[in-house]
Amino acid sequence: MSQDLWSAVDEYIAQHLLSADSSLDAAVAAGEAAGLPPIAITPNQGKLLELLARIHKAKSILELGTLGGYSTIWLARGLAEGGRLVTLEREPRYAEIALANIANAGLADTVQVRVGPALETLPEMHDEGEGPFDLIFIDADKQNYPGYLEWSLKLSRVGTLIVGDNVVRSGTILDPDGSEDGGIAAGVRRFYEMLAAEPRVSATAIQTVGAKGHDGFALGLVEAS
Ligand code: DHB
Ligand code: MG
Repeated sequence: MSQDLWSAVDEYIAQHLLSADSSLDAAVAAGEAAGLPPIAITPNQGKLLELLARIHKAKSILELGTLGGYSTIWLARGLAEGGRLVTLEREPRYAEIALANIANAGLADTVQVRVGPALETLPEMHDEGEGPFDLIFIDADKQNYPGYLEWSLKLSRVGTLIVGDNVVRSGTILDPDGSEDGGIAAGVRRFYEMLAAEPRVSATAIQTVGAKGHDGFALGLVEAS
């Protein structure tokens, strides 16, 4: 019952506040046709990411976990003039679908998709002198959120906004063992502990309900170097 209601309200919000967008619709359709896991953010969440990027006047965005590029397109739309986005994807097949969706949205020159495990790509980027990024969106495998946060901080500056997806997981993060879920809850819990212990970052998390169930976003602002 509650899921039906959350989905209906999401639909109501989207109908009122979101414009029709053929590139985003095409990205969803391409993801479905290719059998991607249906775990992309919702349209209303995408608009939130776009607005966060715009509010922050982001010129550089890093995304961990591209999937089919749906959130990538929303984030890239929020970039300031001349801005760029780098998105990291472990699965070559997902990256290929994402590249097509990104090109179809007219963002091929704005977005770079780097293929490989992010925990290998992030140190390479650091060595290459990439960053600091204005906004970092962490949305890849939850088991590695602690490592992703660590590397995100290395690629940050004072003022960087770090956003983490899926930090509630229907409340399963309250299970201190989290042994039934392949380490997802443990990864997310460690992510909270790191944020709590990190003097450079001021953070909160907000629970969300909607078409993708009960979950949440974490927001952290880097306030010191
Ligand atoms: C799921 C949802 C996500 O947004 C994600 O990044 C990974 C998994 C899920 O619902 O399983
Ligand atoms: Mg997610």
